[in-house]
Amino acid sequence: MDKKLEKVMNEQLTKEFYSAYLYLSMAAYFESENLAGFSHWMKMQVQEEILHAMKFFDFLNERSSSIVLEAIDKPLAKFSSVKDVFEKTLEHEKKVTASINDLYALAQEVNDQATCVFLQWFINEQVEEEKNPADILGKLRYVSDQPAGILILDKDLATRQQPVLEPGTERAGA
Ligand code: FEO
Repeated sequence: MDKKLEKVMNEQLTKEFYSAYLYLSMAAYFESENLAGFSHWMKMQVQEEILHAMKFFDFLNERSSSIVLEAIDKPLAKFSSVKDVFEKTLEHEKKVTASINDLYALAQEVNDQATCVFLQWFINEQVEEEKNPADILGKLRYVSDQPAGILILDKDLATRQQPVLEPGTERAGA
């Protein structure tokens, strides 16, 4: 693999672990607010991000590329409300989308078609990754910090399922 592309692929692997860490920090905030359903939703998101990171890990291995695990930044830890958390989630996912798009553009530039195909899964995935927090923010607009509404949503988010393995592959997906 092209060395610059390999470096940026490794950086994306670390960014996916940062996402997991950020969402774990958000789960901790929800725990402190006694919102077990919101916390559960975030913990499922943590698992999904770890699966994303492992997709990069496995792909780099399959391509006999070097894997360099960098330090994971300290995540945000202060949140002012449920809405604030999901605004930050959406903002973060938009950054991830931009990062994946840049990665795809680089893979195209160096004509690495296998990496382009690999990254297409992430391009599709990011549509859902932005949609999920945007949908929750949409519901929160109706609730506008009313405890009863927040508790109904908390119950709803407690039903989020674990990410599953894609049929016919050993690769984990969402
Ligand atoms: Fe790995 Fe939330 O994107």
